[in-house]
This record gives sequence, C-alpha cells and structure tokens, in this order.
Amino acid sequence: MKNIKAIVFDLYGTLYDVQSVSQACEECYPTHGESIALLWRQKQLEYTWLRSLMGRYVNFEQATEDALRYSCAHLKLPIDAETHRHLSDAYLRLSPHRDTPAALQRLHNAGIPMGVISNGSHNSIAQVVSNSNLSWAFRELISVETVQVFKPHTSVYVLAEKRMGQPKENILFVSSNAWDATAASHYGFPVCWVNRYNGVFDELEAKPTYVASDLGRVADALLAEQVST
Ligand code: LAC
Repeated sequence: MKNIKAIVFDLYGTLYDVQSVSQACEECYPTHGESIALLWRQKQLEYTWLRSLMGRYVNFEQATEDALRYSCAHLKLPIDAETHRHLSDAYLRLSPHRDTPAALQRLHNAGIPMGVISNGSHNSIAQVVSNSNLSWAFRELISVETVQVFKPHTSVYVLAEKRMGQPKENILFVSSNAWDATAASHYGFPVCWVNRYNGVFDELEAKPTYVASDLGRVADALLAEQVST
C-alpha cells in the first residue's frame, strides 16, 4: 500500500455490522430477527439504487424506514408505528465490527487522516459514529446528502476526493461492499475490499487493488508500509 496519505471508509457493513440490528428485530419478532435484518438491508440498498436511477432522492433514514415497512409486509409480520420507530432507531445504534475500534486507533495513532463516506445522511452518520464513541477517529464525515444521489454514483466519489484534500491516487478507499469497492475502483482510488465473510467479488469490470480479511489486516499493511518508507 504505497503512497497512501489518507483513508476513506464506507460506513454500513465496513466499519459497522448491519446485522447487529437483528437482535432488536428478534426482540420484537422472536425467531424472525435474522431474516428481517437480511431482507431489510437488501431492500434498503435496492431503494437507494432505484431512487438514484429515478432521480428521486430521499435521505437514508427514509429509505431505511421504507425498506423496513416492505420487509415486514413481505414476511407477513404486522408492524405498528411504535415498533417501526424503535427498529428504525436501531439503525442509528449499530455495533462496530469487532476489529473496527482497534484498527482505527492504530491508524489514528500513526497520524493518517481518516474519513467516512456514506450513503447515510449527515445526521445518521454522526449518530452511528458518536453512539459507538468513535467520533475521535475521523477528520471528515462525508454524506451523499451533499450531492443528493447515492453511491455508486460517481459524484459521490468525486466528493470524497475533494473533501479528503488529496489526489485520489493517495487516498485508500476501504469498503466491504463489493459494489461500492467496484465504483471506487472505476473512479480511480486504490481500493481495499474488506472480505470478512469469504465472499465473491462482483463482476463489474473492476477489481479491488487489495483484499483484506478485516480492518486489522488493513492497518497491518498500511503501517508496515509507513515503517519501511
Ligand atoms: C454506506 C453503505 C451503503 O454508504 O454501506 O455506508
């Protein structure tokens, strides 16, 4: 990982475990927690992509709330307004992945400027990061709200480069979402795909520059490079 002067991380799935909402789902709908969480995330992503194609942006909270309503209807689970609010709020209190805090601490100690670039709204990014006490790690919290279109639209990656204040060649883009890593790669960032679950990368004419099994391995690779240069 040569010439890296800054890092931008995707939020949902990369730094934070989107499946951590399954516990709150399970409490409301015993035995259905995991299936709600899986379908909810899939629909949330679809709604962001579809809304971008339709040119009908709403913020991420709205897309998340709509996806939850769809998921419960699809699974034939009635949802009242209070449960809907309670579960939607759970998305603001996601747990970081186990490897996230220590890796961020090591990179922060090394003085590497870090940012988040997310489909989340300004409010949802700030809440997720501060509810998990990780605000200290980031110089920039960058939301697609500024450009009113979701990833993987190119204008989001342009925004990330601009806000990090470095040429894209010097910014490591870190994402667990293969579709996001693909678009970042097409834009020209060096990309690290975090493949925690031994997944298969997408077939969309781009491959990640690096693959790591978790964020600890990303920190290992970056810090080894800093020591040797
Ligand atoms: C993010 C989601 C899409 O942008 O992973 O944070």
